[in-house]
Amino acid sequence: MPLARQNAPHPQEFLTLQEIVAAARASLAPGPWSYLVGGAETETTVRRNRQALDSLAFRPRVLRDVSQIDSSGMFFGEKTRLPILLAPIGGLESFAEGGAAAAARAAAEFGIPQMLSSVCQPGLEESAAAAQTLRAFQLYVRGDDAWVDDWVRRAKDHGFHAFCLTVDVALYSRRERDLVGRFVKPWRARAAEGAGFQAALSWDQVKRFKDKHDLPLILKGIATAEDAQLAVEHGVEVVYVSNHGGRQLDHGLGTAAVLPEIISTVKGKAEVWVDGGFMRGTDVVKAVALGAGTVGIGRLACLGLAAAGVPGLVRTLELLEEEIRTCLGLLGATSWAQLTPAHLAAASPVSTPDTFSAFPLL
Ligand SMILES: Cc1cc2nc3c(=O)[nH]c(=O)nc-3n(C[C@H](O)[C@H](O)[C@H](O)COP(=O)(O)O)c2cc1C
Repeated sequence: MPLARQNAPHPQEFLTLQEIVAAARASLAPGPWSYLVGGAETETTVRRNRQALDSLAFRPRVLRDVSQIDSSGMFFGEKTRLPILLAPIGGLESFAEGGAAAAARAAAEFGIPQMLSSVCQPGLEESAAAAQTLRAFQLYVRGDDAWVDDWVRRAKDHGFHAFCLTVDVALYSRRERDLVGRFVKPWRARAAEGAGFQAALSWDQVKRFKDKHDLPLILKGIATAEDAQLAVEHGVEVVYVSNHGGRQLDHGLGTAAVLPEIISTVKGKAEVWVDGGFMRGTDVVKAVALGAGTVGIGRLACLGLAAAGVPGLVRTLELLEEEIRTCLGLLGATSWAQLTPAHLAAASPVSTPDTFSAFPLL
């Protein structure tokens, strides 16, 4: 890794996201590294996430006075520094000391929301106590209705603004990097217990949730217009377009490729969020131009944490912000509302898309 330095620099010395990725690579052991970057089976979905983003080019407008740019986002009525969310990550503790609490601190310091995964250490109460930040809670269903209701109560009691069910994990996929490397996640046995409840989930549970609870509901892992339509009919507040970063169903479409059909189906009746392969400011701008309200970052956030803990993630977000603001200005936009699909055009990727095609200097 030519960009990795012998002595880790102070996080403020990272001038590019590429250096952060190189530092993370140098700091992680092979097992956690493969777990982080890998996907399901042939990893075609992982690459398609990047391919879909790399297949969009910009159509810039000029002479529009971009001396003042507002790149802030919204999260359930609250202003955030960027329209970006820390996506839920199980086992964050493998990438940084403090795990989910470290991610919460970075989110609070920078000013974006965190979605906490139910298979993360420390758990709900301790993570909530670690920092005052905007947050949502994501659950893998491992029990009956009463078990789910208890998690909702705990999330509500601890100030979570919304509840998320991840729905692209009916079965746990075959992650071949982990299998080949004989990497067994320390929390795997715990996370697998009761997996039958997740497999048995149906729209009935979504209806039950909406009838019983008043916390906004996010469905994460919607990948078709048909399911987006059902989500809207069930009164779901957020349709979160995701394929789990290509870690679940192999041979899926890239999320940026399915976003347009979902946006035109939802027609503003729910918010549409997206994740999957978002590594650069330009990627975020593309998703918002297509109509997404918030973009989740998964691996990139873990790389920031692995590079240098809380300050490493904060620096990652600062660099992402700089890229976003540069891109907005060069497109002739001073706010997200000015972006439209007319700022985009179809184009061929210039390099073979994969997780790291966003970092050509690595
Ligand atoms: C190491 C790792 C662990 C993850 N754990 C969870 C999880 O516990 N719950 C969940 O809904 N998604 C989980 N995801 C998926 C992310 O929330 C997100 O959908 C995905 O990482 C987005 O793609 P990206 O990594 O290319 O940004 C995980 C992803 C990674 C990389």
